[in-house]
Amino acid sequence: MGNIKAAITGVAKYVPETIMTNADLEKIVDTNDEWIVSRTGIKQRHIFKEEGMATSDMGVRMVNRLLEKTGTHPDEVELLICATITPDMTFPDTANTICSKVGIKNAFAFDINAACSGFLYALSTGSKFIESGSHKKVIVLGLDFMSSIIDYTDRTTCVIFGDGGGAVLLEPDAENGMIDSVFNGDGNGRQYLHMKAGGSLHRPTAESVAAREHYVTQDGRPVFKAAVTNMTKSFNELIKRNNLTIDDITWLVPHQANMRIINSVGDMIGFPKERVMVNIQNYGNTTAGTLPLCLADYESQLKKGDTLVLTAFGGGFTWGSTLLTWAYDGE
Ligand code: UT7
Repeated sequence: MGNIKAAITGVAKYVPETIMTNADLEKIVDTNDEWIVSRTGIKQRHIFKEEGMATSDMGVRMVNRLLEKTGTHPDEVELLICATITPDMTFPDTANTICSKVGIKNAFAFDINAACSGFLYALSTGSKFIESGSHKKVIVLGLDFMSSIIDYTDRTTCVIFGDGGGAVLLEPDAENGMIDSVFNGDGNGRQYLHMKAGGSLHRPTAESVAAREHYVTQDGRPVFKAAVTNMTKSFNELIKRNNLTIDDITWLVPHQANMRIINSVGDMIGFPKERVMVNIQNYGNTTAGTLPLCLADYESQLKKGDTLVLTAFGGGFTWGSTLLTWAYDGE
């Protein structure tokens, strides 16, 4: 690796048109707006309802917007990485499906399954191809179709998740871009957050369907605690080893799982609230989609040279924080 940095040179989001409000959920399960807002900060989420559509179809809309915005021809794209836990099918991957639907013919492509940390892991992986000098245009997507694996009779999960995400273009830059990442994981966390059936351990059967084992199950409290502890730890380690202080960071971009988690992490690291990106009220938790959705929504406020730390925690457990400088002025 020489002096080439991998810079984000564009971002595009997609969320489905259909909105499910807390009032809509009150009609389906035993919940209420007051509980959802006070315990999670979520007011609505977007749900992908179009007939016959899959995760790749949301991905196609993100990538087409990104290509248009950045003036990139599909033939120029050399690598596309898709972070998702809701692929169109168990295999093949969703990344190659997106490429074929968009008309990207000269790229290799693959998925990354790291739940809510997926976008950060994919961003870091894609960056290595730019930093090495081997690739010049890499697209990284973070998106999920959570409503396809959510049990709408389970009030403990159905109020939290939503559909959507975003895509970024990575290109070489001499000045700004990816600087460093601290990543970690703990497979023991799988007991607290998983989809039980459908894989090789618990194969799909009529019984597994009847037992509703093809949906997300979560033991919220241990996940909450581990999320706060580990996002805080990875953030602190990242800024310490780069000799930075809070004052050097323009924006904190946290995974949007729960407003109380975002506030706890912010308080523990002492980060000013006005420089923390928050949009959970509009989308809920879109798993791999939350971080690119934040970058897209705050793009107009970002300036060339701004220093960002993105931090995430998710199923696996997976977690980490990434330090980068922003490469362009938002419109
Ligand atoms: O994205 C990465 C991974 N995921 C996360 O980071 C999520 C982490 N966990 C959380 O965000 C929170 O634990 C939840 C939002 C999932 C739950 O909040 P909580 O404050 O931890 O609630 P709880 O599970 O401790 O439940 C408290 C009460 C219970 O009632 P009792 O037993 O005290 O009578 C629940 O049955 O709230 C009840 N409850 C609800 N009430 C109304 C749980 N869900 C609901 C609901 N509406 N939707």
